[in-house]
Amino acid sequence: MRFGRIAAFLAVSLAVAGSAPASAHPSPAPDDGSLRAAARGSGVHIGTAVDMAALDADAAYKAAVAREFDTVTPENVMKWEVVEPQPGVYDWTAADRLVDFARRNGQLVRGHTLVWHSQNPAWLTEDAYTPAQLRALLKKHIFDEVGHFKGRIWAWDVANEIFNDDGTPRDTIWSRALGPDYVADVFRWAHQADPKALLFLNDYNNEGVNAKSDAYYALTKRLRAAGVPVQGYGMQGHLGVQYGFPGDVVENVRRFDKLGVKTAFTEIDVRMILPPDAAKVQAQAEGFGLLLRACLLAKNCVSYTVWGFTDKYSWVPGFFDGEGSATPLDENLQPKPAYDTLRETFLLVRR
Ligand code: XIL
Repeated sequence: MRFGRIAAFLAVSLAVAGSAPASAHPSPAPDDGSLRAAARGSGVHIGTAVDMAALDADAAYKAAVAREFDTVTPENVMKWEVVEPQPGVYDWTAADRLVDFARRNGQLVRGHTLVWHSQNPAWLTEDAYTPAQLRALLKKHIFDEVGHFKGRIWAWDVANEIFNDDGTPRDTIWSRALGPDYVADVFRWAHQADPKALLFLNDYNNEGVNAKSDAYYALTKRLRAAGVPVQGYGMQGHLGVQYGFPGDVVENVRRFDKLGVKTAFTEIDVRMILPPDAAKVQAQAEGFGLLLRACLLAKNCVSYTVWGFTDKYSWVPGFFDGEGSATPLDENLQPKPAYDTLRETFLLVRR
């Protein structure tokens, strides 16, 4: 009798599961109170930028990266100056270590970044090359880097920060030498090098509807109409409580949704003028929550990545004078209200 009931139950479950093997339906991992557990089932991946020096030296940091996130982005170690310090001489060691760490922990990797005006090696920017040479160097770099990681990168930030805030093309070594069409070329090259990776545009101050996001909208539309493999629109999400937050993020994300591209928040932090106080800390939680809600309200928003999760290693104090406290965990890895807001917001949505 007991066996009969179990058999009947199994028959029903198998019918529901179709012909999928049992291993395709592992029992859900328990909620250990982490962001990663809260994000599971929401349809949105939760990621962090990873500082490789911290990952190597700080066991608590390392454990938190594994526990709290299902997606990682190298904060620096896939940038041109790190991977190709001399022409044609590559150093993948740090980036490979992150990719291996991610695989061991069941995490996806966002590759960052292929074409940018910043953190390029001096040999590249010293003005020693003709446009034709620069184009060949760029093409080779993209094939070599994307090829090296082929099959191991979920999404690439292909072109980073290519517009000014007023929506005009940023003047860079690439735009100057190659004209605006280089953007289409780099997406085509990256796609050839790894056809399965999702290819993103990425920028800051493009979260709401404004001149910059309008420029990205027009560019995305034009590139896709021309068959260029652009599959994603990344919004970095570097906010500051002293500036207030963009009000029309949902509208912006949804218009890219409708273009058929995926969207992602890729580098979120919410900084403040130091020292923190209760009002700033509460505003910060709202900033983190606002971007997460916008992502969860859009069909094709695939990931929400913080640019560091602890103030112990955040880039903010080193780059913005007098500012800091920009991440969801403090310098002792203790959660702030922003952390709780993220967890609670994720838990609202199952999709
Ligand atoms: C930053 C890193 O966090 C710093 O460690 C580094 O010194 C400079 O770059 N936009 C981006 C990121 O796309 O790559 C930048 O990361 C932050 C702004």
